[in-house]
Amino acid sequence: MPKNQLCVCAEGPNRTRRRRIDARMRRVYFDNNATTPLLPEVFEAMRPYFSEQFGNASSIHHHGQETRAAVEHARESVAALLGCRASEIVFTSGGTEADNLALFGLARPGDHIISSTIEHHAVLNSCKHLESLGCEVTYVPVDGRGLLDPDDVRRALRPNTKIISIMMANNETGVVQPVEEIGKIAAEADVYFHTDAVQAAGKLPVEVKRIGCDLLSISGHKLHAPQGVGALYVRKGTILLPLFYGGSHERSRRAGTENVAGIVGLGRAAEIARQALDRGDLAQMAEMRDRLEQKILAEVEAVGVNGYGVPRVPNTTNIYFDFIEGEALVIALDLKGLAVSTGAACSSGAVEPSHVLTAMGLRPDRARASLRFSLGKQNTAEEVEFALALVPETAARLRELSPVYNRKEALSS
Ligand SMILES: Cc1ncc(COP(=O)(O)O)c(C=O)c1O
Repeated sequence: MPKNQLCVCAEGPNRTRRRRIDARMRRVYFDNNATTPLLPEVFEAMRPYFSEQFGNASSIHHHGQETRAAVEHARESVAALLGCRASEIVFTSGGTEADNLALFGLARPGDHIISSTIEHHAVLNSCKHLESLGCEVTYVPVDGRGLLDPDDVRRALRPNTKIISIMMANNETGVVQPVEEIGKIAAEADVYFHTDAVQAAGKLPVEVKRIGCDLLSISGHKLHAPQGVGALYVRKGTILLPLFYGGSHERSRRAGTENVAGIVGLGRAAEIARQALDRGDLAQMAEMRDRLEQKILAEVEAVGVNGYGVPRVPNTTNIYFDFIEGEALVIALDLKGLAVSTGAACSSGAVEPSHVLTAMGLRPDRARASLRFSLGKQNTAEEVEFALALVPETAARLRELSPVYNRKEALSS
């Protein structure tokens, strides 16, 4: 195979030949809710910690002190992004661990937890496991726009409710939940409030005091820091059982030698995110997202936005393209250089519709026909035009091939 060609599928000679793609082709990445590219400034900040500054942050000699100072500087930067004290930040391996630490750190058999039907699996599957360990969980529903009603949270409270865990922004639709109202409900009821802010940090102001939460999760790779690092804000005085047993790292809340380079990257990314929020850079991203969304709505038949008309993070739009398999559209766009995603997950060989979209009441076929476009700092207005040149034409071509597509019916639906 020529060097400039790359094979995306290793499932046998015929399929491999068909899916050979040109590695030199233009690529536009609109899947920043899955992961974001590392910013060059973040990489530069991390670089010394892969080479000359290699000390274990727990060592008392010069090398250890050097990396300890870097970890503590990063802790202050993350705390500044979230508006808390540095001592309230626990570094973790990512958003999943932060969510697990919050829930398993607090919940005990017999406790009641309130969560929602649209949480990320890091929270949902933790809650499922806690149910098997003797906790009770109420999953509060959302409406057709993906928004939760705080009164449902209030009504779900029980005498044994220990934790409310409701995400700040949804990863598939970008819909922002009324976390401040939920924070007040939790405070009145004297219940712990955890929010998964993995998709909100860097896209919205995330201030723990305004939210009124006791615990808040973030993840490095969603804000242009590396994969494999995250943090949990733990309000002073909150006693958590650790997930791991070992040394007394992170004030005995998270044992294990620190991922110094990753933590430094998270700290630098937090500083950059804070500056961008202060400058109002996110308004530009919202403009690009809105143009993409509006043009698709105007130029493609039988489409709609999942999560329209409610507060959303500025980078995300989730659009259904009726009569098209979302996966087929993702692959067709990828072959032309545009990376987007479906919320669908492949389990046991079958494509399951997204639990978030079905919880919003979408029919399974419409949920399967939905695509998420999520922008990042590196994207440009010109890339939006590139996407707009591809999406309507690709959707129309797939519909021409579709045996179930009937134009008249589509226009009237
Ligand atoms: C809302 C939300 N929570 C948690 C996670 C998990 O974060 P991580 O990939 O850092 O484990 C993700 C990742 O997609 C997410 O979107």
